[in-house]
Amino acid sequence: MTLVCLLAVPTGCDREEQPPEIFAFGRPATPEEIRAWDIDVMPDGTGLPPGSGTVVQGAKVFAEKCALCHGPTGREGPFDPLVGREPREGFPFGRDPTLTRTIGNYWPYATTLYDYINRAMPLNAPGSLTPDEVYSLVAYLLFLNEIVPEDAVMNAQTLPQVTMPARDRFVLDNRRGGQEIR
Ligand code: HEC
Repeated sequence: MTLVCLLAVPTGCDREEQPPEIFAFGRPATPEEIRAWDIDVMPDGTGLPPGSGTVVQGAKVFAEKCALCHGPTGREGPFDPLVGREPREGFPFGRDPTLTRTIGNYWPYATTLYDYINRAMPLNAPGSLTPDEVYSLVAYLLFLNEIVPEDAVMNAQTLPQVTMPARDRFVLDNRRGGQEIR
């Protein structure tokens, strides 16, 4: 068919088709749809939603929704261990890539914990947790990592104030035109 067309009516077929300026499908996202995607939480806490959670509440949610993959105390696996402060001294991760990095020994910002759990966990149902559940899980995991006390309450005000053990181990790499890793 194509061959016949090319030979018989060249003026109709050899013209290159230009893409249209707009494709006639899709529609602008609604404010509600944009809100559903606009969930990022910044290191300083910008973006944290209202809500709160305690260590005790977090232990319950963790047992129900997280322990099957991360272990009853967050250390056993089968997937990533979430608890562990060792090695406490020297921050030797750069020298020994086999060391396990955890919330307690590596993460520089507590607020990242909210963002990550909220967007990615549980792995089999991401986005399913309420803000109160996420705050309580954050409280529980920070407690297990010896970073906050057992009576800690996490919310948009308290969470950004938590200083992580590895906070000062990271620097802003603002060099230009040199080696890429400091
Ligand atoms: C079905 C298994 C599964 C469940 C359930 C699950 N996780 Fe995870 N989790 C994973 C896997 C796999 C990773 C590693 C993901 C990756 O590296 O991309 C992970 C990574 C994480 C991390 C990052 C660890 C790190 O230091 O890099 C956190 C924090 C976490 N999960 C918290 C939770 C919490 C809290 C829950 C319960 C609400 C939960 N997870 C439930 C499988 C699961």
